[in-house]
Amino acid sequence: MNITNNISSVPYNTFGLEVNISTLIELNSKEDFSSLHTVLQGKEYHILGGGSNVLLLNDVTAPVLHINTKGLEVIKESDDYVLVKMQAGESWHEAVLWAVAHNYGGIENLSLIPGKCGAAPMQNIGAYGVEVKDVLHAVTAYKLEDGYEYTFHNEECEFGYRTSNFKTIWKDKFIITSIILRLSKEGHHTLNTSYGAIEKELADRGIVQPTISDLSEVVIAIRQSKLPYPEEVGNAGSFFKNPIISMSLYEELVSEYPHMPSYPIDAASVKVPAGWLIDQCGWKGKVIGQTGTYKNQALVLVNHGGASGKEIYALSEDIKISVRQKFKIDLEREVNVWR
Ligand code: EPU
Repeated sequence: MNITNNISSVPYNTFGLEVNISTLIELNSKEDFSSLHTVLQGKEYHILGGGSNVLLLNDVTAPVLHINTKGLEVIKESDDYVLVKMQAGESWHEAVLWAVAHNYGGIENLSLIPGKCGAAPMQNIGAYGVEVKDVLHAVTAYKLEDGYEYTFHNEECEFGYRTSNFKTIWKDKFIITSIILRLSKEGHHTLNTSYGAIEKELADRGIVQPTISDLSEVVIAIRQSKLPYPEEVGNAGSFFKNPIISMSLYEELVSEYPHMPSYPIDAASVKVPAGWLIDQCGWKGKVIGQTGTYKNQALVLVNHGGASGKEIYALSEDIKISVRQKFKIDLEREVNVWR
């Protein structure tokens, strides 16, 4: 365990926001977790994974836990699948590349998602028709109150669109230490190519029978064309969730905006893309001071350099107001705001 005082937050968040972190506690091994309750002594704390989904508004005075534990290992294998244990501090994208290189299928569509493995189940990361819940076997998590490690199976985590119990009722109670994924082996892969942009990219490349490696490459290319690199332009991916609206509101809106994209949920509700709503309000590519929205994807708020978290938050409030006025929809932030 390494403890550092008064350091800059810049290397620890993909928005590149500068605040002071009073205490950073780096957890590098399993043993570090077991001494944590003694170190924290019931104090409030924050958990930081890759810092790719966080908006820092103020200096952070509560201790920040930075999880650095490493390891990717097959813990069980049968003819058709493997169970892979990934330590929380592993980079998610590196873990995807590792799986693809070993020809283990199921997470290739989740290539290039920033952040660490431990954060993946928290908000049930998803992209291009796949969510981590689809392959998640179990999560191990350390309970601060008693110092024990618990295992939660998929159903116990209550996964939903960008949410799980770790983000709601278990928040601040458990620290995810590892995830166990059930991945398919050669001959047993189920590729998900249904997403329009994937179909198009595969066709452009003349690929008829894609491998998981092809799919990973295609997803990487699509993401690179739409989303900014945090090293170049600070951002935290999608800033808002795609809202789920009632069928009656959907019908009202679609009669006025016949080209509004949507994804069916059930008989009573429909999901609509927040990026489209924000774009329709005229925000795409707008620059406001040092902040703005990305030129290729209005759902991504950016720091053009030197912006504060409060400026980005203020922009997000203005966006929420205009979407509410035009579409009667309340956008919900996907990023975690540290106040
Ligand atoms: N659109 C616009 N203008 C924009 C942005 C989008 O008209 O500025 C339209 C697109 O043309 C498309 C629709 O909105 O018809 C959806 O856009 P896109 O395919 O880019 O996906 P998204 O719904 O904006 C979601 C996830 C992304 C994930 C992609 C691909 C959420 C909040 N976001 O974005 O996840 O990569 O689908 O599956 O669910 C993230 O969570 O950080 C993230 C990047």
